[in-house]
Amino acid sequence: MASKFYITTPIYYVNAAPHIGHSYTTIAADTLARYHRLLLGEKNVRFLTGTDEHGQKIQRAAEAAGLSPLEFTDTIVPIFKKLWEKLNISYDDFIRTSEDRHVRTVQRVLSILKDKGEIYPSEYEGWYCTPCETFWMEKQLEDGKCPDCKRPVEKIKETNYFFKLSAYQDWLTRYIYEHPGFVKPASRYEEVVKFLELNKLNDLCISRPSERLSWGIPFPFSPEHVTYVWFDALINYISAAGDFDENGLYRSEWWQKDAVVVHLIGKDILRQHAVYWPIMLKALGIRLPDTVFAHGWWMVGEDKMSKSRGNVISPLDMVDKYGLDVYRYFLLRDVPFGLDGSFSEESLVQRFNGDLANDLGNLVYRTLTMIEKYFDGRIPVREAAGSNAAPAAGAIDAKLARLSAEVKAHLAEAADYNFGAALESIWEAINMANKYVEETKPWNLSKEGKLTELKDFIAVLVDVIRHTQEALSPFMPSTCASIRQQAGSHVIKKGNPLFPRIDTRKPSA
Ligand code: MSP
Repeated sequence: MASKFYITTPIYYVNAAPHIGHSYTTIAADTLARYHRLLLGEKNVRFLTGTDEHGQKIQRAAEAAGLSPLEFTDTIVPIFKKLWEKLNISYDDFIRTSEDRHVRTVQRVLSILKDKGEIYPSEYEGWYCTPCETFWMEKQLEDGKCPDCKRPVEKIKETNYFFKLSAYQDWLTRYIYEHPGFVKPASRYEEVVKFLELNKLNDLCISRPSERLSWGIPFPFSPEHVTYVWFDALINYISAAGDFDENGLYRSEWWQKDAVVVHLIGKDILRQHAVYWPIMLKALGIRLPDTVFAHGWWMVGEDKMSKSRGNVISPLDMVDKYGLDVYRYFLLRDVPFGLDGSFSEESLVQRFNGDLANDLGNLVYRTLTMIEKYFDGRIPVREAAGSNAAPAAGAIDAKLARLSAEVKAHLAEAADYNFGAALESIWEAINMANKYVEETKPWNLSKEGKLTELKDFIAVLVDVIRHTQEALSPFMPSTCASIRQQAGSHVIKKGNPLFPRIDTRKPSA
């Protein structure tokens, strides 16, 4: 097994406040980071997130706000950081592409690639729409006009720098055939394979004339050019984690052979991560990530949730209304990771009342109530275990013994990041325990003076609570901390029910 784990989220554009979609990737990455810290030790996990700050979009948003681009991004970055704090995101590093360490690395990459002959200048000719600041190919024009705004276009000729993407098509296609786990899930893998089989890669235009776009990383060997924002952005994954030495060799403890490197992204940015990025790394002589996992979209009705569609829901509103861990749980439980899902508060309330209030919350609360009532708050020690245990208790023991392996199979070994299946496996234990309470009828054991049976019965429930708390802690860190506090030592400290049921008959506030 690998000894290190490096996980990243996309770096988010700062032209808008983060919505549920952004929080989804970050919560998923956080859960995996927390899980791997338990597995490999704190210092062997690196979790990176950050912000993508250059380019036209940001420059325009800054202009609209009457600020310089950097002043503008300085006002938005704290909004992201605050949200991540509220969502209990345990990132180890937050990279801004406007930071020195990043700018330096991007410039170094450009110089190295130029020296290796991977980058060349060439004249670029196209139809340019000045208001849209977009180049169009002849065949894209509509009646000779811009297909977006329908205004006249101008023919522009300019020199730009190109990266030799096309030279690597055969190499990448072969690499992807040989590494079916490089892109996940399988549906996205197929998409990349098809794309490579059906299209011829063009070299990538990686510069913009600085007179058109000033907010970008200047080319070290051509001050008239700034770096294309995607080329700049992808490099964050290496600029945050290491450095090039004087010979142009990249050194990083997180891109070593023995580390697992995972990029979590949404399916909207698959091509950049599964085609451009591996080729950039190959050209630089850096190992490739193990997995690019592209999850699905949160939709509102038929539409993707996005700022431009004006249908965004704020993560903070949901957290304030239902609680942080409920929100985290819902996102990872309700829709299989990889597929699209429709966001609905109704389903969230259903999960709250069902899985959380009825199952988990109830198990903890009723167990602690019995410990209070029958044992004065002291957790009883178990007497009959193994073959002496009651059959239902034996089945529970067996389930607990395999629980961590089941969770691991979904979150680490197969790397299918099937959060839903891991949670289902945890809930199987919770449900077995609740069923055990209903079948055992502890009040009768107490009435009949069957003290040993009562002790053993309760000790089994405490075992379930402790094991599930451990398995669940990467998903719901504060809930599990509260469970540990209540039932972690010899004497319980019972609190209020963890998830007081939401009355669905009342109209919600
Ligand atoms: N800045 C680029 C990424 C550069 S990475 C080197 C970018 N930023 S973004 O702000 O637009 O964020 C895109 C990411 O946000 C998606 O890939 C996905 O992780 C997340 N989501 C944004 N909207 C989403 C949904 N509606 N549903 C799920 N996640 C989506 O692209």
